[in-house]
Amino acid sequence: MANLTIRKLDDAVRDELRLRAARSGRSVEDEVRVILREAAQGVAPEALEPTPQLALTPRNPIPRVTLIIGGGIAAYKALDLIRRLKERGSEVRCVLTKAAQRFVTPLAASALAHNRIYTDLFDPQSEFDAGHIRLARDSDLIVVAPATADLMAKMAHGHADDLASAILLATNRPILLAPAMNPLMWSNAATARNVAQLKRDGVTMIGPEAGEMAERNEAGLGRMAEPTQIADAADKFLRPPIAQTLQGRRVLITAGPTHEPIDPVRYIANRSSGKQGYAIAAAARAAGAEVTLISGPVDLANPAGVNVIRIESARAMLDAVEAALPCDVAIFAAAVADWRVASEGAQKIKKNGSLMPTLTLVENPDILATVSRRAAGRPRLVIGFAAETENLLGNAAAKIARKGCDWIVANDVSPATGIMGGDRNTVHLLRRDSIDSEAWPDMSKQDVARTLIARITTHLETT
Ligand code: C5P
Repeated sequence: MANLTIRKLDDAVRDELRLRAARSGRSVEDEVRVILREAAQGVAPEALEPTPQLALTPRNPIPRVTLIIGGGIAAYKALDLIRRLKERGSEVRCVLTKAAQRFVTPLAASALAHNRIYTDLFDPQSEFDAGHIRLARDSDLIVVAPATADLMAKMAHGHADDLASAILLATNRPILLAPAMNPLMWSNAATARNVAQLKRDGVTMIGPEAGEMAERNEAGLGRMAEPTQIADAADKFLRPPIAQTLQGRRVLITAGPTHEPIDPVRYIANRSSGKQGYAIAAAARAAGAEVTLISGPVDLANPAGVNVIRIESARAMLDAVEAALPCDVAIFAAAVADWRVASEGAQKIKKNGSLMPTLTLVENPDILATVSRRAAGRPRLVIGFAAETENLLGNAAAKIARKGCDWIVANDVSPATGIMGGDRNTVHLLRRDSIDSEAWPDMSKQDVARTLIARITTHLETT
């Protein structure tokens, strides 16, 4: 199919196309596809669905803020805001409106943000890569500081005729506005209407404050909030406080593979990365639990505040688990090797002509089953994992019965899913006392961990 070059379109068509793309939240290229499809099918242009605001949960370990700097004298304070946001660990991408560039230079903003600056909706550099959509969606928070009367009016009426307003219209992320303007502009009925509308639309505002204005002899409500206050308000979105629902509970987690020695240099292993178990340990700790993580060999850093015990073999893992008991909740996310070599060679096994060495395997202790069946000191809730490549729910249900645990988190680890070693997971939660299983949507391993911790909390609170 022929490629379409947007530069070859006349200006009016090109601008209309970009605005349509901004409104519908698509890249220009995708918008063209939709138009062509509609034309081919003879259907009326599709209605635009309002974009829902997503949950206020940061999706990235390093939160991303898109900072839109509006054109007002307070723009100089936005430079300090960049520093404050970065100081607190956020990545900052700045968008400067045309008017903002009269007050601060893109170079200054770029140097402070350590990032390129975005100024133009029609930026030839990101012509087909829908830069405004990326900035609008690929952020945890959009901050507008200073939010001028004009920018707020555009937002309230859904305009998208420059990069800043197109981002604000195309985003489904939370928006934080720091208004700054002359007190008369702030108290004007039109601004008051726009502010009320924006609040109804779910936009959060910080300020303005009362005080001296840049204009001589002018004072009143209209000063932009201080950068530290704006950064504090941003933190409420980026790092919502986590309820300490597991305070006072002891949680034990196993994670990673085990290595079963064949001789001093060789071992049997599997492809477990440990990421899911480590994410659960971090989420349990964040919820206030006292966490012990017993980990096989993995390439992951210890989660902060977690007591990590590193072991290699299944037998060492069992010993460490038993030593770490008692606990309230035990979660067995490790991919424990089912077998080990019956007798580990004391020396490296040498090649012996065409004679192949025979490895006799014996079964490893089943840690989950051992803990589940403890007569005394059994944790209140014992959770196993079932990594399957076929008959996921059937095998997982059978595992609950066979091992005697309370819950199983089941996931399909067929190579095509990319789950083994990947950052995302699609799981089912099965419970011994329920015939129904819960199918969770595809999510990050961190989100699986947080969801599991929420289920555990409910269980401990209600049983
Ligand atoms: O390997 P399998 O599918 O049996 O693993 C299911 C569950 O049992 C997992 O939670 C795993 O951590 C646990 N397990 C264990 N000890 C073993 C084998 C598995 O704790 N030897």
